[in-house]
Amino acid sequence: MSATLEVTDDELLAASRSGPLRGDIDVPGDKSMSHRALILGGMADGETRISGLLEGDDVLHTAEAVRALGAKVDRRGAGEWSVRGAEWHSPAGPVECGNSGTAARLLMGAVAGRPISATFTGDSSLSGRPMERVLAPLRAMGVRTEGSTLPVTVHGGGLHGIRFVNEKASAQVKSAILLAGLRTSGTVEVVEPVPSRDHSENMLRAFGCSVERDGEVIRLGDRRTLSGTDVAIPGDPSSAAFAIVAALIVPGSQITIRNVMANPLRTGLITTLREMGAGIRLGNQRSQGGEAIADLTVTASALEGVEVPAGRAPSMIDEYPILAVAAAFARGRTVMHGLAELRVKESNRLAAIIAGLQACGVETREDGDSLIVEGMGGPPRGGGTVRAHHDHRIAMSFLVMGLGAQQPVRVDSGNMIATSFPGFVPLMRSLGAVIG
Ligand code: S3P
Repeated sequence: MSATLEVTDDELLAASRSGPLRGDIDVPGDKSMSHRALILGGMADGETRISGLLEGDDVLHTAEAVRALGAKVDRRGAGEWSVRGAEWHSPAGPVECGNSGTAARLLMGAVAGRPISATFTGDSSLSGRPMERVLAPLRAMGVRTEGSTLPVTVHGGGLHGIRFVNEKASAQVKSAILLAGLRTSGTVEVVEPVPSRDHSENMLRAFGCSVERDGEVIRLGDRRTLSGTDVAIPGDPSSAAFAIVAALIVPGSQITIRNVMANPLRTGLITTLREMGAGIRLGNQRSQGGEAIADLTVTASALEGVEVPAGRAPSMIDEYPILAVAAAFARGRTVMHGLAELRVKESNRLAAIIAGLQACGVETREDGDSLIVEGMGGPPRGGGTVRAHHDHRIAMSFLVMGLGAQQPVRVDSGNMIATSFPGFVPLMRSLGAVIG
C-alpha cells in the first residue's frame, strides 16, 4: 500500500535472542484516547487539561490540526497538554494527517458538523486507505465531500440526523458520525451488530454530552454541547501488546506493565493469549474517566495454538501482527478468522505478516479472510530481513520475534515506530532486550 522508498541505515533495526526480560514499565498513553482528548477538547467550551497524552507522530498531527482549526493547544510538559476550545474556522491550508487514519477520519466528522471547509492530506500509506466508509455516512447527513481517498475536502454544516449500521465494526466511522452529529438536533444513531471500541462514547460523556447505548444502538442524547474537563490517559494496550508477547516468548521472563487501559473492547489479545496458555495477571484493577485500567504481570509461558473467532477481531484489530508472532512460537496451529480489515490498515498487514513469518522460517498462509500460522512449539529460525512497509506495528512485531528466535531478525521502517510508540527501543532494552 505504501510507496516503495529507499531503506536507509537509520531505518534498519535488528533484534537478537535475549536473556530473561525483567522489570516494571509504563507504556505510552493510549493512541485512541489521545486523538479523542485533543479533538473533544478543541470543540469544548473552556479548558481541557490532558495528562498522559501519547506524543507519537500520529497524535501530534491531530494536535496541529486542532490548532489549525482554531483551538488553542499548548504543551505544558511531558504528556501534559492544555486545549482551549473555540468556534472552528476553515484552516488556512490542508490538514496534514501523516500516517494516521484515526486523525483523518475523526477530524472529517468533527469538521462536517460545522459551516467550514477543510482539505485533508496524508502520507503515501494514508493516501491509499479508503475514506468512503466515513464520507458516505457524512454525505447521508447532508455534507458535501470531494475525493474518496486523500486528498479529501469536506464542506461541513447544515447537517441532519442519521441511523447508520456499522457493518465493519469501525470505531473511526462510528466516531466520525457522533462528532458530526453533535451539531445537529436530529436523531443520530449508530447500530453495531459487533461492538467496536467505545472511547468516543465514554469521553463524550466525560465532556458532559449525553450518549446512550441501548443493545446494539448507540444514540446521541439531547445534550450535545461539550464542556472542557480533565482527561488522564492510561497506557495503550496496543503498545503493551509488544512487551506482553516479548515476555511470553523469552524464557524465564517476568515483567509488569503498569497502568494499562483494560477496556473489554480492547482486551481481545489478552483473552486469546490466555486461551493459548499465557501467564497474564491483571492486578490493581480500577476505573478512571469511564475506562478500566489494570497493571499486567506477564510470565514466560509455553503457548498452544488456538482458533480465534471473527467476532473477537474488533477488540484486537491492531494486535494480529503480534499475535501471529506469538502463534509462531506456540505448539500447533493457530487460525485467526475475520481479518479482511487488516488489508486496509497502515499497510496490507495480512500480506506483511505472512511475508515476514515466511522470511523467518514459519509456515503460514491466508485462507479467505483467515490467517493460519503453523506454530513451531519453540523458537522459530528467524534470520530474516522483514519488510515492514512503513508500518509501525509490523516493525515492532518482528523485532519482538527476534528476541526469542534462533537467529536475529532485522526490520526496515524502524523510523515509523515513532508513529505510535516513541521510546519503544530504549524501553525494551531496559527490560533486557537486545535490540538496536
Ligand atoms: C481506532 C480504530 C481502529 C484501529 C485504529 C484506531 C480508533 O480502526 O485499527 O488503530 O481510534 O478509533 P477502525 O475504526 O478502522 O477499525
